[in-house]
Amino acid sequence: MTQAAAAQAIPPRVIETGAFFSCEVDVVIHYTDQLFAFRVARPASFRFRAGEFVMIGLEREGKPLLRAYSIASPTWDEGLDFYSIKVADGALTSRLQHIQPGDRVLVGRKPVGTLVTDALKPGRRLYMLSTGTGIAPFASLIREPDVYERFDEVVLTHTCRTQAELAYGRELVAAVKDDPLIGEMAREKLMHFTSVTREDGPVTGRITDLIESGALSAHIGREPLDPSVDRVMVCGSAAMLADLKALCEARGFIEGSNAAPGDFVVEKAFAGEGV
Ligand code: FAD
Ligand code: A2P
Repeated sequence: MTQAAAAQAIPPRVIETGAFFSCEVDVVIHYTDQLFAFRVARPASFRFRAGEFVMIGLEREGKPLLRAYSIASPTWDEGLDFYSIKVADGALTSRLQHIQPGDRVLVGRKPVGTLVTDALKPGRRLYMLSTGTGIAPFASLIREPDVYERFDEVVLTHTCRTQAELAYGRELVAAVKDDPLIGEMAREKLMHFTSVTREDGPVTGRITDLIESGALSAHIGREPLDPSVDRVMVCGSAAMLADLKALCEARGFIEGSNAAPGDFVVEKAFAGEGV
């Protein structure tokens, strides 16, 4: 085979297939038996706003099998990162959890979502409240220079059942604080607060309870949530969203959207009953 023919035989890292991109998997990292992260090649024309989600999936029996996923990488990154649950009998993740570098993942063309800074009014401090894989959109946002330009302080909270489930967030925040582009801003402005609910931790308790009791404010050394200075983004289960939405509204926060920016915004980390 000539060199030119050999080059042609290598499939491109991103292939356009009608409504989707088919993107080569570069990296897969398993955190627990229920959580993993992976990185795929980014299509050159793929644009998104930090905090948005997109449909991704695998081809199954010649058809795309797709689910919504938050993009976990920043807009300036050359790859696309995702952070995923492994549901043993889940149609997609029972298969997706076995992907290897060199495999292909389908990525939709139209990212959307409300966890974007455009949906919030200006404020002094931005709270990002997450449980489980709900940290994924914030993995993008905490690497976005624009977030640190808009807010004096950024507080990322992550609550999981166990310490092992906090590992992705811990590694991420450490890497962000060390990053040549964003590290200086993150070291100055980003706080990371973690708690667990089904193990002993340095801090235990649901984020809702920790806000209500004043424990969060005490831990980070800030005043209780106040709509005159604070803005809030929430991502977790439907039940967690419903409770935090009620908590925010009871404190006078107005929900925002892309069409009408407000004081807080919410997005489900997975579909289910609730909000
Ligand atoms: P499904 O049949 O879709 O789900 C089976 C059951 O598993 C669900 O009923 C639910 O109880 C549970 N479940 C599903 N996803 C989760 C989860 N993330 N955490 C805990 N329990 C779950 N999932 C991610 O892993 N990462 C993301 O970044 C992500 N972003 C999302 C963004 C949006 C806006 C929405 C609506 C969902 C998001 N999801 C995310 C969930 C994702 O779309 C799928 O549900 C998940 O990949 C499981 O797919 P499945 O086909 O294997 O199982
Ligand atoms: P808990 O262990 O008390 O249920 P899940 O895996 O079920 O999505 O939960 C992830 C984390 O979110 C867990 O720490 C869980 O606490 C917490 N959580 C579940 N429901 C709520 C809720 N309604 N409000 C606040 N936190 C919640």
